[in-house]
Amino acid sequence: MNEAPLNDRTDVILEQDKHLIHAFSDLHSLQQPDARTVISQAEGAYVYNERGEKFLDGMAGLWCVNVGHGRREISEAIATQLNTLDYFSTFYNLTHPTAAALAEKLANLAPAHLNRVYFGNSGSVANDSAVRMLHHYFNRLGQPRKKKILSRIGAYHGSTHLAIAMTTPAYREGWDSAEELVHFLSSPSTYHRPENLSESEFCDFLIDEMRRDIEKVGAERIACFIAEPILGAGGVLVPPQGYHQRSEALCREYDIKTISDEVVTSFARLGHMFASESVFGLQPDIICTAKGLSSGYQPISATLVSDEIYEVCAGKGNRFLHGMTYSGHPACCAAALANIAIIENENLCQQVQTNGPQFQAALGALKDLNIVGDVRGSHFMIGLEFVRDKNTRTPFADSVAIGMRVSAEAQKRGLIVRPLGHMIVLSPPLILTVAEIQSIAEILQQSIVAAEASLSAQDYAA
Ligand SMILES: Cc1ncc(COP(=O)(O)O)c(C=O)c1O
Repeated sequence: MNEAPLNDRTDVILEQDKHLIHAFSDLHSLQQPDARTVISQAEGAYVYNERGEKFLDGMAGLWCVNVGHGRREISEAIATQLNTLDYFSTFYNLTHPTAAALAEKLANLAPAHLNRVYFGNSGSVANDSAVRMLHHYFNRLGQPRKKKILSRIGAYHGSTHLAIAMTTPAYREGWDSAEELVHFLSSPSTYHRPENLSESEFCDFLIDEMRRDIEKVGAERIACFIAEPILGAGGVLVPPQGYHQRSEALCREYDIKTISDEVVTSFARLGHMFASESVFGLQPDIICTAKGLSSGYQPISATLVSDEIYEVCAGKGNRFLHGMTYSGHPACCAAALANIAIIENENLCQQVQTNGPQFQAALGALKDLNIVGDVRGSHFMIGLEFVRDKNTRTPFADSVAIGMRVSAEAQKRGLIVRPLGHMIVLSPPLILTVAEIQSIAEILQQSIVAAEASLSAQDYAA
């Protein structure tokens, strides 16, 4: 048996870790021995535990380390910034060179009509900020009743009080939220569409429902429609062809503002800096981004606002009463600028446009396996859904924990993937080589076969 290296501090760390409240976890089962995983180091597309065991990071941290781990250009930019100006605020009339430079950079990268940027420190805050600004915008226009938000079953928009209210209810069972503000439309998941509908009929169904619900709630009460172009944490749900343009057109018709939640889909994950316009042909009123903006090296988000909305908020005598101490933090802005420079200098968008379809194809081939019902997503954002019956698309019971089983098998083979109910999700760093793409597909193939072998007849019947 291999002895653990002398510097293995796993036991000490786990003892200290008892004080840490883990996000989105089952706090009770975390008390079990071996329930927690310690990751201590990272380089490129790989992370290492205390024992020095190496894992391919199939999740890029949490959909965020787009340029890969250990990039000295970013850590040095952060250090230089902290040694020059550690902190200053962007409240009132104050600013600093790095926040100004990043704001201009984002305005240049975003669709032409989005030229104003509010910085936050998380995707949740980016989305909250978008809604607060729109509420204020409609107040300014003398429409104070226009407050409701349209969202979708399956959406994930964060976990502050407002962002969780816009998130699919499954993510807040037993928890409260500002749900009176939100109206949910059906999930646009093409895979789970009603059996009797073709993809284009399903699109008609969703758009008809949206129109009907807008009429029912009253457009004069609806401020905005918030939507991820591909729904991520809800299960990598891909809407039917034409859905994006038609829902945007409907919003325009009813004077409902659109927020594109690009917290995951921006910064090259789908092969473009922003996917809304470049991939989906959309012109959202607001784009929210975070994660890949700094590749996770520092916590930063941005809410990019249309000129039209900005002009209303910036009218004479008005005050912008929204702000957080760390909005535009110098170290976060420095990290984002260095990260964007890497994406540009290394042509990561073009690389993803080539390698992304290869990743999709390699994982798509796993659809032939007995329990794989669907492989969906785009480029480096892919989900695999497991079913006990492919013909009827019937999922395994939650108690089977099929996603956890596959994820555990993958970890044994050196790959970290995210279990999500009866799915696993992959969103690796964008720097993967073709050999690493193949290796992920092979490990997953073995892991799914092993997970399937562990199932009993009862698991199929549950
Ligand atoms: C699409 C989307 N929006 C918002 C968020 C919330 O971001 P954060 O966790 O940084 O608050 C997430 C997080 O996963 C996300 O995937």
